[in-house]
Amino acid sequence: MATHDITLTINGLQERLTVPSHMTLLQMLRSELAITGTKNGCAAGECGACTVLLNGEPTNSCMVLAVECDQAEITTVEGLAQDGQLDPIQDAIMEAGGVQCGFCTPGILISARALLDRNPSPTEADIRQALLGNLCRCTGYFRIIEAVQQAAQRSPIAARS
Ligand code: FES
Ligand code: FES
Repeated sequence: MATHDITLTINGLQERLTVPSHMTLLQMLRSELAITGTKNGCAAGECGACTVLLNGEPTNSCMVLAVECDQAEITTVEGLAQDGQLDPIQDAIMEAGGVQCGFCTPGILISARALLDRNPSPTEADIRQALLGNLCRCTGYFRIIEAVQQAAQRSPIAARS
């Protein structure tokens, strides 16, 4: 089995790993590094539960090979809080009641943070567009959208790259 040595930054910490050719970024996060906030919903690029920021872009981590992430910057849901303070989108989604089973929540938080980083005043249409790839089976989306609108009105944490 071919393996590869990679170096990447995950939530601000540099990691060096040896990964097999076929391992996905999602598998690496969950199995190799025990960073389990990122969820495995479909493993097929359909649900968005596995969304992380890859060099600042929301990305389905089940569709990217770990070896492709050499020298990359990854942010998972664990990396959203800063200095012990939740990101405004994390506070807002709890306050708005946008979490039920919570399985979709990490991916939605990442997609929402990426949206707010590039567009601090999104319209409802912008929010719906940004969350198109994040499926939720529980909430009906209304409260999630409300949470993003509320978070947009709060002082944002500095954009992540
Ligand atoms: S687990 Fe990756 S898109 Fe569903
Ligand atoms: S809260 Fe259950 S899937 Fe979204």
